Amino acid sequence: MSATSPELPRCHPVRIAPPGGAISKPLQSHIMNTLKRMSLFAATSLLALTATFAHAAPSAALNAKYGVCFACHGADGHAILPIYPNLAGQNKDYLVLTLRQFRDGTRPNAVMGPMAKPLSDSDIDQIAMYFAGIKPGK
Ligand code: HEC
Repeated sequence: MSATSPELPRCHPVRIAPPGGAISKPLQSHIMNTLKRMSLFAATSLLALTATFAHAAPSAALNAKYGVCFACHGADGHAILPIYPNLAGQNKDYLVLTLRQFRDGTRPNAVMGPMAKPLSDSDIDQIAMYFAGIKPGK
């Protein structure tokens, strides 16, 4: 699991003081400390959750876009039949490289050639990151 998942939502800056700044200094630092602890906790839980979901199931968006890939390689990167390669935990750079080769024909393959044809560079990056981020083995 890579720490930088594309699925992580961004945090909004939190405004804790009213416009006049009517909160005492000690209260202010107490609130700040509580917020810091909370957001650290939230960030840690989110990371753990993302790791779990990345292994268990892809997001609806990924499913819609790459469901065809999952049909052979498995949604969790573990191939549905032994005649297909597992992709879970494969190096991201390798996945990018080989998908580009399938796409431009320098790695000719009757199945993967047509599969890779419609993928843009950013699609390739996205799906490579997804499979690379899954812990292999089950
Ligand atoms: C019909 C089944 C099938 C589908 C659908 C499919 N693949 Fe494949 N994939 C294969 C097979 C078979 C190979 C092995 C190709 C070879 O022998 O070179 C392969 C190879 C690969 C490899 C290279 C693995 C390696 O170890 O070199 C990658 C990466 C890959 N597929 C990604 C994808 C992606 C992304 C999609 C969706 C756009 C997809 N595949 C759709 C069957 C499939």
